[in-house]
Amino acid sequence: MPVVAIDGPAGSGKSTVARAVAERLGVAYLDTGAMYRSVSFAALRDGVDPADGEALAKLAGNLDIGLGERVLVDGIDATAAIRGADVTAIVSTVSAHPAVRADMVRRQREWAAEHGGGVAEGRDIGTVVFPDADVKVFLTASEEERARRRQRDDRAPDVNAVAADLARRDALDSNRATSPLVAADDAVVIDTTGRTVDDVVDQIVGMLT
Ligand code: DC
Repeated sequence: MPVVAIDGPAGSGKSTVARAVAERLGVAYLDTGAMYRSVSFAALRDGVDPADGEALAKLAGNLDIGLGERVLVDGIDATAAIRGADVTAIVSTVSAHPAVRADMVRRQREWAAEHGGGVAEGRDIGTVVFPDADVKVFLTASEEERARRRQRDDRAPDVNAVAADLARRDALDSNRATSPLVAADDAVVIDTTGRTVDDVVDQIVGMLT
């Protein structure tokens, strides 16, 4: 079951690169951030407190998350909403709860078993979800470049506000007790600053052969 694990902070180029690697290899692709975002979306929908781990775990346990071209949460198209500011504001708090993570990790492993492996991207893929992955990559980029990319993707007006929000999420994701954002000991760290997507994809695909 070959698995490529791609981790890194927001704006590191993770999603673009992971999607392209999966396409190049002709294998399945899993965006685990979209799963935590889907739980956050449902919490806002149901008025569940992002600090209430027990209520969130119950919510997550019963949630139907459909990941494909569109993201369907309990059958409702939430593709745009899960990228919105309201979800982004709470997703780091929601994803810090161990019981929420346990549910998502179980689903991620099921996904790999169903698809016979694939490319999975997130924060804890190489460290926790698939510690035996065939290839582990940790993507980084300079703070300036990450903020510029996010500003472009989100069409945000103020690059400084984007940079501040990235720093806030980085701090929360890196300092949480359970499965913090950190490179696995055996991950290859790739700085994507100033590099093209194709170039980075070539490097990762080359690691498999
Ligand atoms: O990749 P993203 O920005 O869509 O992820 C959103 C949030 O979800 C991120 O700030 C932390 C959390 N997350 C996580 O804790 N573990 C993962 N494997 C993926 C995302």
